[in-house]
Amino acid sequence: MVRMRAIHVARLDGPQSAELVEIDEPTDGGVVIDVHAAGVAFPDALQTRGLYQHRPELPYIPGAEVAGVVRSAPAGAHVKTGDRVAALTMLSGAMAEVVALPADRVFTLPENVSFEAGAGLLFNDLTVHCALRTRGRLAPGETLLVHGAAGGIGTSTLRLAAAWGASRAIAVVSTEDKAAVARAAGATDVVLAGGFKDAVKELTGGRGVDVVVDPVGGDRFTDSLRSLAPGGRLLVIGFTGGDIPTVKVNRLLLNNVDAVGVGWGAWAATHPGYLQEQWAELEPLLASGLVVPPEPVVYPLERAGDAIASLEDRSARGKVVVKIR
Ligand SMILES: NC(=O)c1ccc[n+]([C@@H]2O[C@H](COP(=O)([O-])OP(=O)(O)OC[C@H]3O[C@@H](n4cnc5c(N)ncnc54)[C@H](OP(=O)(O)O)[C@@H]3O)[C@@H](O)[C@H]2O)c1
Repeated sequence: MVRMRAIHVARLDGPQSAELVEIDEPTDGGVVIDVHAAGVAFPDALQTRGLYQHRPELPYIPGAEVAGVVRSAPAGAHVKTGDRVAALTMLSGAMAEVVALPADRVFTLPENVSFEAGAGLLFNDLTVHCALRTRGRLAPGETLLVHGAAGGIGTSTLRLAAAWGASRAIAVVSTEDKAAVARAAGATDVVLAGGFKDAVKELTGGRGVDVVVDPVGGDRFTDSLRSLAPGGRLLVIGFTGGDIPTVKVNRLLLNNVDAVGVGWGAWAATHPGYLQEQWAELEPLLASGLVVPPEPVVYPLERAGDAIASLEDRSARGKVVVKIR
């Protein structure tokens, strides 16, 4: 067997359980990829403590997405040896020198997107596509409010919002230095999380926004509903704030607003071909430069635990990736 370097999580003691190991290269069929970089997302942190709904068997390789070069592909696949690609391992398996994946989770990377940017692209951008386009019905000229705006989902939303019609994207962040990250990603306005409702009211002349993108949840949920204009949609994406909020549904009725669930993985699993359809919409925007690729913070493979910890301790700025070769 040929050996490869990979990250293993063998104990559920948090991000620092991630350790560099040598294991056998995968032998399964599918598209075999020499991985250059792997993305880090919030579920990777939760998984290291057994707190995420998907619990891989121990030891597992963390990471949901990669970018690299195709080593081999089955006959008839849409990619071939030597192609630069990004790919989804989906919730574990990414932080390894070689992965083998079904062809429908492999996407040709435009020449202008680096491996590091490519490894930080699919998980968030395709979730945001599902949120804004499929579930949130964002219409041209509508306005957005984005929580956790300097995080992975947040910066992805800010990079994509204008291309998909948003006329304004108001970012909500916890600190001034995160405000700079949100502005660089495309925010038109930035407000601090404390008191965001009043700030949004003032910025929108009392009207509110059409869509709230919420990967944070917790105690700001009710104020998010109050920040919606009539006909507005609050997109429920995640709960980095810790608590899963509850809502009195009279609030939906009184202001004619929707709380909309966005479960991208579940949607993809029940809609065959969806991932490739999403990519067909996103890829031309990246290739033409209309949407800029992410500019991730890059950690070496040996520091994968620190990379994952930066999401758990809230110190991450923008997307985080691990460089593998
Ligand atoms: N529904 C789906 O299909 C789907 C798909 C992908 C990801 N997600 C979810 O989306 C969420 C965001 O993921 P991500 O990768 O963007 O995470 P991330 O990069 O870590 O960003 C999350 C942001 O949440 C904010 N936050 C507020 N309270 C926090 C706390 N106690 N601990 C950590 N962060 C806190 C932080 O911003 P401030 O410090 O500025 O508040 C942070 O920038 C996660 O819950 C993830 O599971 C859902």
